[in-house]
Amino acid sequence: MAFTMGFNFLLLLAMAATNLLSLYHLSSTFQSPKPSPPVPIHIPQHLLRHLNDIRATINHLTASTSDSKRTSPVPHDLVLHSQVAPIASSCHRHPYLLRRYMNYTPFSTCPYDLDLQETLILNGCHPLPRRRCFSKTPPKPTSSLPLNPFPTALPDSYVIWTKYSCKSFACLLQNNPIDFDLNARRSSLLKYASELDLPVNRFMQLAKSANSVIRLGIDIGGGTGTFAALMKIFYNVTMLTTTLNVNAPYSEAVAARGLVPLHVPLQQRLPVFDGTMDLVRCGRAVNRWIPLPVMEFMFYDVDRVLRGGGYLWLDRFFCKAMDLEEVYEPMIGKLGYKKVKWAVANKTDPSGLKNGEVYLTAVLQKPVSR
Ligand SMILES: *[C@@H]1O[C@H](CO)[C@@H](O)[C@H](O)[C@H]1NC(C)=O
Ligand SMILES: *[C@@H]1O[C@H](CO)[C@@H](O)[C@H](O)[C@H]1NC(C)=O
Repeated sequence: MAFTMGFNFLLLLAMAATNLLSLYHLSSTFQSPKPSPPVPIHIPQHLLRHLNDIRATINHLTASTSDSKRTSPVPHDLVLHSQVAPIASSCHRHPYLLRRYMNYTPFSTCPYDLDLQETLILNGCHPLPRRRCFSKTPPKPTSSLPLNPFPTALPDSYVIWTKYSCKSFACLLQNNPIDFDLNARRSSLLKYASELDLPVNRFMQLAKSANSVIRLGIDIGGGTGTFAALMKIFYNVTMLTTTLNVNAPYSEAVAARGLVPLHVPLQQRLPVFDGTMDLVRCGRAVNRWIPLPVMEFMFYDVDRVLRGGGYLWLDRFFCKAMDLEEVYEPMIGKLGYKKVKWAVANKTDPSGLKNGEVYLTAVLQKPVSR
């Protein structure tokens, strides 16, 4: 109980810290006409002091969870959580980036700094501090938006291309066909060539034969949203797609298809309420490169949002063969889900062979009641 209180307070503090930064900004007389050049950056002493105060207070609070009044020691998980949790406290580890991000003229157009935002988010500084400026929109209006989630082409005018090396979807189709060739992606999600494949219609049959209705779900790391698109056109299922704009406008691509992109990193708590989703699918973004504590928290958050009887679908999760037995299977086992499908096979590409990796495709059903 005391831990819960402590951590609620910590969250509050993190929010307060965010506001402090905004306050700092408003009270500052410094107005920058243009985004400042990346180097060299001079951090004003008072901002550093603010950041140090925030850091010291957070450290103090984190430390104070082990005060002597309590009889039991602080659970290891909680301490861990304070380091990996998305409570904006990670922002204080990147004062240079944060200062660049918060350097803008209030009530005018925000600097176009998507790359900076993405870097902060990937470093765990999410949610980002709020800003009192207006986000930039593309220069030309989009003449028409596709109603079909598999349009022949995505509208280029929907995207501000300045930060990307490609300047059109046609270019992305050439350079990144895995994500941007919508039809190739579609076929790969529908095919059954090995045990590792689970075509969408087979999954829906599995659910139907268990009398389980699928209407709502989240596709974690869903790229350009092709899984959500298939679920929509074939089954009227509403899927949210989490995606980041790493080197390409993934969020815009998903939205241009009439689907909902969630701009959240893997360490972020899913922004939906407990027990509301019928399905959570983890695509190839969820793999062994995710730090174990983050992965474990992610699974528990997936469990939180799934309804009783809902499904967790791991699509070609990969890891070292030994780790699957010793680490991941026990971690997944702790959820207490029913194994509806569990298929493991060697990963036979060069890096898979070199590292002795295996793929796992699994469908797991959450217990109906706990
Ligand atoms: C999806 O919903 C629409 C409108 O309610 C309906 O006409 C259509 O038959 C549904 N499609 C499927 C595959 O259920
Ligand atoms: C998978 O790889 C392991 C070790 O690299 C090997 O011993 C095993 O025979 C392979 N299994 C298949 C089905 O190829």
